[in-house]
Amino acid sequence: MQTAKPIGEFRMHRIMCKNKRILLGVSGGIAAYKTPELVRLLKKSGAEVQVICTPSALQFVTLKTLSVVSERPALVDFFDADSGMWNHHVELGLWADAMVVAPCGSNTLSKMVSGQCDNLLLTTYLSARCPVWIAPAMDLDMYQHPSVQEHLQTLQLRGVHLIDAEEGPLASGLEGKGRMAEPAHIVDALNTHFEVPDNAWKGKTVLVNAGPTYEPIDPVRFIGNRSSGLMGIEICNALIQKGAEVILVLGPSHLPVPENIKIIRVETALEMFDACCQHFGQCDVGIFAAAVSDYRVAQASQEKIKKNHDSMQLDLIKNPDILSHLSQTKKAHQRCIGFALETHNAESFALEKLQRKNLDAIVMNTVGENSGFQSTQNSVVIFTKNQAPFASNVQSKSDIAVLLLEKLDDWHVVE
Ligand code: C5P
Repeated sequence: MQTAKPIGEFRMHRIMCKNKRILLGVSGGIAAYKTPELVRLLKKSGAEVQVICTPSALQFVTLKTLSVVSERPALVDFFDADSGMWNHHVELGLWADAMVVAPCGSNTLSKMVSGQCDNLLLTTYLSARCPVWIAPAMDLDMYQHPSVQEHLQTLQLRGVHLIDAEEGPLASGLEGKGRMAEPAHIVDALNTHFEVPDNAWKGKTVLVNAGPTYEPIDPVRFIGNRSSGLMGIEICNALIQKGAEVILVLGPSHLPVPENIKIIRVETALEMFDACCQHFGQCDVGIFAAAVSDYRVAQASQEKIKKNHDSMQLDLIKNPDILSHLSQTKKAHQRCIGFALETHNAESFALEKLQRKNLDAIVMNTVGENSGFQSTQNSVVIFTKNQAPFASNVQSKSDIAVLLLEKLDDWHVVE
């Protein structure tokens, strides 16, 4: 099987950050010594950079250096000691097109999660309306600590983008994962975000479904599943980058959703079925990433069921298979891509579904410690009828989404 091609290799010639306003938050950590270089690269990419340091960052890098390279006074205090002027965090937050916290140490990370705001960087983060990136940096054992990993996960589920730590020698003398991503890689992540859509899917309308469905048992209880909806939402983001028109039919998901697309919120599988049937006719492609409940309660109770008995039975009936229905009735120009999540015999089940549901491609999720439901990462194998399967590495779901669209292009599944 092939391996996924690395995404986001730094390409110096890209100047996608041109005229973008970037807030660089620098927290305390040895990696702060790399931030003047980061500022320099951002400026070279065409960005305006405003640096905000935490007080402890100043043990590792000076305000003077950062002010000189950014060509703006780097900030640390709420008030300018000389002029008495207030460095207004709300204004700073609104000014920016993007905010990057690099290095993001464990202390700042946990305060970002809990909403503490005892310095200018944190208050600005809470006020920022722009997308936010973090480039964590800490020693390898700290980085692997469950609290750090949970905090990284929480921020990502709130829509913060992670520029993952890299492996190599650490300040402690140990070697492993924890180094702040190289400044070039951080700039590349921003460049990718600001990249002008490549328009490869311009003129195409794509229906995406995502998230779980909730099947009511009574007015307060339901049958659901652990899907967060993130994979489908990242597919929408990647489609927007490629210039597609996107219609998202979204089950109950708490994640932030992309702007400027049509979103139809549904709760049950039947509602999702109706919404997809209603909109697929106007679409060229359907990407069905939702975790649709296979069954629903035959007769949901109108009143809350009382616990009067030691046991109870629920009568379940099968939900329609949205993907199967649409793919079997699709027109010649339409394409349907399904997802498959299996715990065993995954490949043979995926191939069987590809045939039975008349799909153009199927994306098999590999369920693992660091991928699948409720994870910000995924690893997939993509199958079509005519191509050798393609296996990805464990990557962020946003990278997997880009990879999937690239593969559908390369293989002429979607033309
Ligand atoms: O057959 P299975 O549920 O494993 O297939 C998964 C694929 O089928 C996913 O793409 C999912 O969105 C879709 N599906 C559906 N309607 C259902 C069940 C699954 O569209 N009732």
